[in-house]
Amino acid sequence: MNEAMRAYLDAPMERRGTHCEKWDGLKRYFGRDDLIAMWVADMDFPAVPQVRDALVARAQHPVYGYTDNGEADRRAEAGWLKRRHGLAVDADWILYSPGVVDSIFFCVSAFTKPEDSILIQPPVYGPFYQAAKLYGRKLVCNPLVRDDGGWRMDFDDLEAKLRAGVRMMLLCSPHNPVGRVWTREELQRLVNLANQYGALLVADEIHADFALDGRRHTRILALEGAARCVMLTSATKSFNLAGLRQSSVIAPDAGIREALKRTIAQAHADMPNIFGAVAQTAAYTYGDEWMDAVVEYVRENRDCAIDYMRQGLPEIGCQPQEGTYLMWLNFNGLGLSHEAVKALLINEAHVALNDGLFFGQEGRGWFRLNLATQRANVVQTLENLHNAIRSR
Ligand SMILES: Cc1ncc(COP(=O)(O)O)c(C=O)c1O
Repeated sequence: MNEAMRAYLDAPMERRGTHCEKWDGLKRYFGRDDLIAMWVADMDFPAVPQVRDALVARAQHPVYGYTDNGEADRRAEAGWLKRRHGLAVDADWILYSPGVVDSIFFCVSAFTKPEDSILIQPPVYGPFYQAAKLYGRKLVCNPLVRDDGGWRMDFDDLEAKLRAGVRMMLLCSPHNPVGRVWTREELQRLVNLANQYGALLVADEIHADFALDGRRHTRILALEGAARCVMLTSATKSFNLAGLRQSSVIAPDAGIREALKRTIAQAHADMPNIFGAVAQTAAYTYGDEWMDAVVEYVRENRDCAIDYMRQGLPEIGCQPQEGTYLMWLNFNGLGLSHEAVKALLINEAHVALNDGLFFGQEGRGWFRLNLATQRANVVQTLENLHNAIRSR
């Protein structure tokens, strides 16, 4: 990363007073606002300059009417997927959806019935549970396994559960919160199993652009036999545009796509926000250098946090994540209850981390740290944690 880009990312960013959930929502979610906001998964970095320019230019035109879900937006996304991920998709496969969570719900609604089972891999992003719960579907869990080598899928358990009858599997790839970038072999095995047992595989790839240490994220649609899979993507996580509500559902199979189109239209959710469309197109067109720099900056933040904790806070269990800008921390070594750790983080360390229970019962004693912020915030968070834990 060049020095200008480092300075761009490193510059202090005051977000309070901008209607942002992460900082302005502290009091509402944590009961006090004198905290460093290291929780909800958005970034404190300024956007790609060309995205801002495109938004400002569009804002200057004073008519903000209904939006055309343009061919240009889809072509820009297809270009990004080809350039950055080596994946060729037909622009016609791409459907607009307001958000990836919305897309998960659309898939559940379009392809499952109340008696159907949906499989997820805990600990996992909370709305995966909601997808089954809100629609009254059965939830089947195939928990991830943790050993010395890190987190892995339990394929024997997975196969047994698929054999017993699962209509849909929701895959998180890369995985939030454990930070795995699944290998091509793991994903191929998954696709093969889903095909063998007739489960629809829906891959939430919102974190796909954050594969660290030169790793490559494998797109589900790049695999053999994946023609009936559904891939959920978004520029909002990669480029920090979440407030603009823009994402895509990509389905190569025409039948699946038509069913999704109908479901999205029934919810009257098939028209983009005008600023979302403008921002996404600019990001996918001009965002390469920015993206590379942000991934590198996050990698450095991760290394800084790991080094600090391994040396000075060995009671916090941590592993360098392979992907995402999120670190999954195990506080069980402190010998405190989950509630006591939470109180310590908020009231003693003055840091806001995501509560591990949001990711399921497997998250008891765990909390998630968001590293997509200026280095100074990371260092201050670590020092606060150190002081709070040492002065117990
Ligand atoms: C795995 C995963 N899926 C989806 C989302 C949210 O997506 P959206 O804001 O597009 O609904 C997040 C946000 O953190 C996430 O981590």
